[in-house]
Amino acid sequence: MSSSKAPTRQDFPADFRWGVSTSSFQIEGAGQEDGKGESIWDRFCQQPGRIRDGSDGLVACDHYHRWPQDLDMAKQLGVNAYRFSVAWPRILPQGRDAVNEAGLAFYDRLVDGMLERGLDPWATLYHWDLPQALQAGGGWTSRDTVAAYLEYTDAVTRRLGDRVRHWITHNEPWCSCMMGYWEGVHAPGGTSLADAMQACHHVLLSHGQAVSLIRRNSPGAQVGITLSLHPIAAASGSAEDVAAAARHDGLRNRWFLDPLSGRGYPADTLALLGEAAPRVEAGDLAAIATATDFLGVNYYFPERVADDPAGGPMRARLVEREGVERTGFGWEVSPQGLVDLLTRIQRDYAPAAIQLTENGSTFEDVPTPEGRVHDKERLSYLQRHLAALRRAMDAGVPVRGYFAWSLLDNFEWAEGYLRRFGLAYVDYATQQRTLKDSGLWYGQFLNE
Ligand code: NOJ
Repeated sequence: MSSSKAPTRQDFPADFRWGVSTSSFQIEGAGQEDGKGESIWDRFCQQPGRIRDGSDGLVACDHYHRWPQDLDMAKQLGVNAYRFSVAWPRILPQGRDAVNEAGLAFYDRLVDGMLERGLDPWATLYHWDLPQALQAGGGWTSRDTVAAYLEYTDAVTRRLGDRVRHWITHNEPWCSCMMGYWEGVHAPGGTSLADAMQACHHVLLSHGQAVSLIRRNSPGAQVGITLSLHPIAAASGSAEDVAAAARHDGLRNRWFLDPLSGRGYPADTLALLGEAAPRVEAGDLAAIATATDFLGVNYYFPERVADDPAGGPMRARLVEREGVERTGFGWEVSPQGLVDLLTRIQRDYAPAAIQLTENGSTFEDVPTPEGRVHDKERLSYLQRHLAALRRAMDAGVPVRGYFAWSLLDNFEWAEGYLRRFGLAYVDYATQQRTLKDSGLWYGQFLNE
């Protein structure tokens, strides 16, 4: 198949997983209902200046009440899998100890709703909404949060483990830790590199320790973790830029992939981190390396890196390529980047299987007077990334599933509702959902 031709579903294996992805805080709303506790994102949204449009997640897409309609739409698209996340503060409002039955009951209904519609539930246990009560003790910087996460995971997997066949322990630790504890742009808004590295170690440790627990409570289920990964290139062929790209790759990609595949933390990155390196106890690295069934990859854009002695601990700086296509976020559109990333992961790590758990784009969407959304750029992004996925598979990468981000426009973290990633447009005033042209195309593709 040529790279310019739009792929068809028949170009992929019959047992391929086709899905859409969502997350609890971004769509559910019902921020204070049925005993839900406060999350670090609820708190973060209250702080002036944190969210670009001053919004919060209290109502969001009101999915908590409208989920039957949303699952109907997913079914109508023709996907066979639906990736969602469980909100920890609904299950354990204080982070640990008392379990809130109403929270478990909600996900019970949701999972049954998926099964009734022929949608295979893919549950993410942590998509960033940590109970605020745990933040008082340091959040992920505290090792106690690992124990709390296991308590939470136990409660969820005991309840849903008979029906959920795919579990994702964490979504994008880079974002929950680096953006949350170092860059200060995500909850809880920290600005310490050492805290971020410690948080990251605890997140990875909680992942590793959860794997056997999940297997016990959900026999036969598949377990994995989802990482945000980027293909990284040097801005020039100079030895300095090439070395900078390798350093940047150390923190961005290898920091996660190496320990998960049993190699421990990369020595070059550890040396550059110096005092900010995490405290690691005996047995931690073995736990983190616990074998899983798949690696979840979220792919959005590639990065180019130049040498910069003042560029943070990795002494590197991101450089934007000129004259390339970009999404509304300014992210470079690069379907080939997906091929480069996947073939690199396969070459260097050879995971048991790869699931593309997120891929998508944001653009300015303006409904026509008739209410249609002609999002041709998103449609083209989707088509070209599916063609790229096929090329990566032809090159021998064992990709087993693709999940578009996202079913619905939703709360895009620090950007609030200003960025729309949905296959369906959400009119937040009326909560009306309308499939955009990209969603209609995905539906045609899936039903071919
Ligand atoms: C990755 C995150 O998992 C998701 O929550 C976010 O909305 C998308 N990327 C788009 O930025």
